[in-house]
Amino acid sequence: MIGGNVVKIHPSEITPEHIYLSRRRFLKGAAALAAATLAVAACGPEGSGPTAAPTAGPGLVSPSLPAPSAETDELGAALTSYEAITNYNNFYEFTTSKERVADLAKDFRTSPWEVQVGGLAGKPRVFGLEDLLEFEQEERIYRLRCVEAWSMVIPWVGFPLRRLLEEVEPLSGAQYVRFETLVDPEQMPGQERASFSWPYVEGLRLDEAMHDLTLLATGIYGKSLLPQNGAPVRLVVPWKYGFKSIKSIVKIDLVEEMPVSFWMASAPHEYGFYATVNPEVNHPRWSQATERRIGESGRMETLPFNGYAEEVAHLYEGMDLSQWY
Ligand code: MTE
Repeated sequence: MIGGNVVKIHPSEITPEHIYLSRRRFLKGAAALAAATLAVAACGPEGSGPTAAPTAGPGLVSPSLPAPSAETDELGAALTSYEAITNYNNFYEFTTSKERVADLAKDFRTSPWEVQVGGLAGKPRVFGLEDLLEFEQEERIYRLRCVEAWSMVIPWVGFPLRRLLEEVEPLSGAQYVRFETLVDPEQMPGQERASFSWPYVEGLRLDEAMHDLTLLATGIYGKSLLPQNGAPVRLVVPWKYGFKSIKSIVKIDLVEEMPVSFWMASAPHEYGFYATVNPEVNHPRWSQATERRIGESGRMETLPFNGYAEEVAHLYEGMDLSQWY
């Protein structure tokens, strides 16, 4: 929590529900038990297997999080290498070429940075990056499943979005949360492409946004986010396709109506609002049954809700998710 009395709880003192649940599931699997420490399980190039975490440096988010506390996610899958995570990216504001994002984004200015949080909020507020880093940062190892059928396992650093939303006190009319990325064509050459309508916008239902798995990430592998990964702050929603995890956020609004996202506006027949990972519902142009894990050979089966069904399936009870890609 920020403001008022700040009581910092070290991550090792708490066991959030999803970690507890993930652990319990992992315990059932038994064999690789030793690897299950504080891990929860999370789109990259061929031939880039897991490597050692980068050493601590000036970009360190939190001195208490110098490196991932586990080498796998809670399902036993190896972390994707830092090199792959930072060199194979989707960030259309820079380019549609995954291998060129890192280079085109290298001089992107991420400080100073402000995020306006408001809309249907009792206490709307502008948070500087320093304020965001005041929230207790924790590690979350998540699988990231891109709608293009590739995936990675990423050790994020960040804090639950819920904590930020609680600070601004959502009003009773608030039913959705709308997010916007920075617009700055001088720095982001992809924004000069008239074929898309900027800014990049995403949205969540309020209960999805308040779920403990929903993260505002500020780092990867214990280091501050690099521009190509959405610095300085981005969303991570691990049970939804990667395009929901909007990067370089400057605005968050509590709203009454379902927001129209960048991809809903750009290709309404291919991308919907919910976009939960579902191996049984194919993209109109390709299958979603399997995925390619970056750095590994072959393909693996895609799991419903990207493997987080136990934690999130209840959010969609009674809904027919087959109509949303
Ligand atoms: N956010 C913005 N602002 N612009 C984008 O082009 N791409 C999305 C998502 N967030 C995107 C974005 C897609 S399609 C994916 S798969 C993930 O970011 C990729 O995140 P990564 O490059 O950190 O792996």
